[in-house]
Amino acid sequence: METAIEIRGLNKSFGKRHVLKDVNLTTYAGEVFGFLGPNGAGKSTTIKMIVGLLSIDEGQISICGNDVEKNFEDAMKLVGAIVENPESYKNLTGLQNLQLYARIRKGVTPERVQEVIELVGLSNRIKEKVGKYSLGMKQRLGLAQALLHHPKVLILDEPTNGLDPAGIKTLRDILKKLAHEEGVCVLVSSHMMSEMELMCDRVGIIMNGAMVDVKTIDELVASAASDTLTFHYYVDRAEEAFKTVSEYDETISGHVMDETHFEISYPSDKTDRFSGELNRKLFESGYSIYSITPVTNKHLEDVFLQMTQEGGSQIA
Ligand SMILES: Nc1ncnc2c1ncn2[C@@H]1O[C@H](COP(=O)(O)OP(=O)(O)O)[C@@H](O)[C@H]1O
Ligand SMILES: [Mg+2]
Repeated sequence: METAIEIRGLNKSFGKRHVLKDVNLTTYAGEVFGFLGPNGAGKSTTIKMIVGLLSIDEGQISICGNDVEKNFEDAMKLVGAIVENPESYKNLTGLQNLQLYARIRKGVTPERVQEVIELVGLSNRIKEKVGKYSLGMKQRLGLAQALLHHPKVLILDEPTNGLDPAGIKTLRDILKKLAHEEGVCVLVSSHMMSEMELMCDRVGIIMNGAMVDVKTIDELVASAASDTLTFHYYVDRAEEAFKTVSEYDETISGHVMDETHFEISYPSDKTDRFSGELNRKLFESGYSIYSITPVTNKHLEDVFLQMTQEGGSQIA
């Protein structure tokens, strides 16, 4: 795998406040990497240091092997970014804004301008003044701007802010396409776990300025998944059926939900034995089982909340 962003031993203080504490991170070409953490964790500070908007106190950052401090221009040629709010000229049209940026970034052809407009889905509004754009449209224009020069690394700080669910879905599809089909390394920051779960291949969790975990989404969910399995049963007589099941083994717990539903939990290492035996027991005792539904494992949101609480992070 080709390394895209490499951060080593990064430290930053604002006055006496130690805001980034020895942050290490490696991201790769072709992945959407989610930088997750509560407000005030240090996401924007890290991103500003990657793109040279803030100085580095201690540590190194490189983009595809180009040191951001020693080789700033070469490093930045490879980066497209939106930090905080995308800036554009309100009295110009979307197209004029892009043409202006195309002139600053060398080698951007008129064809490329059209290509990014289509990619972000702004074709039918691109000749309107930006002053008339919704926040979502401004975000799309910002993304188009960031992509003009074919960056190998795309960095977006909280890009879903102000987007409606349809806008978030569009953004997600665009970012995945860029990463998975064009090999771009996409770094997105967010405090919204549920969005990142759908958008990212891997996530790094930052809390109080420290990276506490870097994992694939699947690993992260699995690592916090409980070792207990839970099922919902839909039967003809829930109360009596639940009594029959819960008396079967002392490791089985649960409760009656309503007249026809009950919930049971048992250790996951007993699945092989219990799944068949409990059903046979119910069947032999004369109950009708209409359905058995596993209650799905924890989602990233739960994992994150759990980690945040364990880590004792202060949410600003
Ligand atoms: N220019 C600054 N001066 C002083 N403190 C700052 C400055 N920028 C950020 N901070 C502080 O650094 C911490 C991290 O902020 P930030 O990186 O913006 O967090 P995030 O983007 O994860 O919400 C916060 O405690 C914030 O108040
Ligand atoms: Mg921020």
